[in-house]
Amino acid sequence: MNGQPAVSASAPGKMIILGEHSVVYGKPAVALAINKRFYCRVSRSGEMILNGRRVPAFVHPHISSVINDNGLSGISMDAGTQIPTSSGLGSSAALSSSLSLAVRKLLGKETDQESIAKDAFNAEWNAQGRASPIDTSTCTHGGGVALNCPAGIGRELWRISRNDRSWNVSEFDVPEMTFVVGHTGIKAPTGPLVEKVRKYKEHNRFASDIIDEIGLVTLQGMNAIRRRDKEDLGDIMTRNHKLLSILGVSCNELNKLVNASLPYSYGAKLTGSGGGGSMIALTDQPEKVCEAISLRGGRPIVVRTGEEGVRLEDGIPETIDSI
Ligand code: PMV
Repeated sequence: MNGQPAVSASAPGKMIILGEHSVVYGKPAVALAINKRFYCRVSRSGEMILNGRRVPAFVHPHISSVINDNGLSGISMDAGTQIPTSSGLGSSAALSSSLSLAVRKLLGKETDQESIAKDAFNAEWNAQGRASPIDTSTCTHGGGVALNCPAGIGRELWRISRNDRSWNVSEFDVPEMTFVVGHTGIKAPTGPLVEKVRKYKEHNRFASDIIDEIGLVTLQGMNAIRRRDKEDLGDIMTRNHKLLSILGVSCNELNKLVNASLPYSYGAKLTGSGGGGSMIALTDQPEKVCEAISLRGGRPIVVRTGEEGVRLEDGIPETIDSI
């Protein structure tokens, strides 16, 4: 780096197991942190330097939002990630959350999770145009996180509001479960898909009904998780996928991977904004699901849940790809 004192941090990726898109409209959602992390190391600089190269700040709206919110106009940042980008696995949320912790530490500011989650949500909102705090809160807190769950179900962490929307963010206890993520290989940025749903909802009453129905299905899924009922949760995930398809955010490649996984899974669905990116399957037969996904041209990864949230690091592991 540039000889200045440096701070390193990391944050996990995430997968949404129920409620994406409808959560943007204040409905409930559940997400889990996964054992793939984003790492960054920052030091002070008057300009924006990324992995040793000067870059215009606007090229990375998440980065410029976090540093501007913390009163800086530039930063020297080295970064590396294990999370595939534009894949529905929270790579930009993990970037924003880890960068917020590193910058706050560097500046001697508060480093509590709520402040970090709010910085990261702001970055997501500024970059995406419209967003919910599901990704950024999960990458910050780690483990299991629920938004807008009924009172008494989770331990409330913080509340985030934007315009006319408000989200209660809670820690949600989720048992050990095995998931396989199937990446389509298609990069699909979140903003245009969120905008597509907004337009559909604005012009069509049917879209609002689907969003309400996803909200109801998500509440049923939360109860299935509390009862530790994997069969019921799997069925509910698959129903959630069908509703997301009707909403217009699935695609042939995602449907193929979901269908290929179902014979060996409790259930499967797209995860994140869709349009490409990834799907997830809840299963006790991960090898069979991986094989089925590979045979259909997808890239399978078995993920471990219960991953720790944002944290300080000694540096960036050498085995990690730069962004
Ligand atoms: O950015 P992704 O692909 O992980 O999707 C985020 C989930 C959405 O509900 C589609 C958007 C949001 O901000 O909640």
